[in-house]
Amino acid sequence: MLDIKITRTSNPQKKPDSKNLGFGRYFTDHMFVMDYTDGRGWHDARIVPYSNMSFDPATMVFHYAQESFEGLKAYHADDGRILLFRPEKNAERLNRTHDRLCMPELPVEDFIQAVKAVVSVDRDWIPTEPGTSLYIRPFAIATDIAIGVHPSHTYKFIIILSPVGAYYPEGMNPVKIYVEDEYVRAVKGGTGFAKCGGNYAASVKSQDKANAKGYTQVLWLDGVHRKYIEEVGTMNVFFKINGEVLTAPIEGSILPGVTRDSCIQLLKKWGVPVSERRFTIDELMEAARAGKLEEAFGSGTAAVISPIGELNFEGEIATINGFKIGELTQKLYDTLTAIQWGKAKDDLGWTTEI
Ligand code: COI
Repeated sequence: MLDIKITRTSNPQKKPDSKNLGFGRYFTDHMFVMDYTDGRGWHDARIVPYSNMSFDPATMVFHYAQESFEGLKAYHADDGRILLFRPEKNAERLNRTHDRLCMPELPVEDFIQAVKAVVSVDRDWIPTEPGTSLYIRPFAIATDIAIGVHPSHTYKFIIILSPVGAYYPEGMNPVKIYVEDEYVRAVKGGTGFAKCGGNYAASVKSQDKANAKGYTQVLWLDGVHRKYIEEVGTMNVFFKINGEVLTAPIEGSILPGVTRDSCIQLLKKWGVPVSERRFTIDELMEAARAGKLEEAFGSGTAAVISPIGELNFEGEIATINGFKIGELTQKLYDTLTAIQWGKAKDDLGWTTEI
């Protein structure tokens, strides 16, 4: 149990228009900060006014990217409750990331306590417009002042909060995806399964290329054979082919998404055939040509469920479901968001009230 010292701001900001939030542009009045020192563990848990932080230019994170982050949301239910969605999954994943990056683990209950505490302090910032929420961004950075390559002995764990609307400007409308055949995101044994900034730094060149061609995101293929479907830029990805829903297996190179896992559990509950298995871009394009690629969607905390209307692979275009939202895609979106916003009974015990 953390002993969290709270210092409230004396200068609260004006809140943004919740009809026009976009994603990750505004930040709340407070943040959570905690330090780690080898031999002492995590200490000095505190909530302080949101502000700039000052770091020595030789701080390790700037040089070797020993860094982790997470993403989850707080939802404002109509009856006034504030809900989190499966926050223990984020805490567990943070620890898997930390293990991979030689960073100290954080007890799951401390992670959840810290999230709840800072969200409670800034609860007035949780927007209430339909489809909006408070995005929670926990992250940890290596803070030793040294430029030799080694695991840091000191860290900071920080949580910032951002009121958000839809991640993509398209909202819950189909997006166009470019299949990346030049760059790769991850290989087994690397950091593909970890949520660390370096994975995203390595992805922006490809995203830029896709954006310039009029595509919202890229679809990554595996880094070795360059043919197995992995994930989309900021989401896991599912394809419904001939009645069966396929998604890439968790084998070390893709991010084990909380929304991905929730979709699989819901599909199984509904009796929809769902397989976590390797499948190739050729199988996918062949299914599209044969009219068997029925639906495609991405899943993620930021993106929720995002229908995919078009794929471009080496210039061949596959239009999916006439560029309309698929029935199953819509059902998953409706079900997940109803649970998250406390509108539906949470039979699966996924929400935690603050
Ligand atoms: C999320 O879905 O929460 C993510 O972390 C994706 C992100 C990089 C915006």
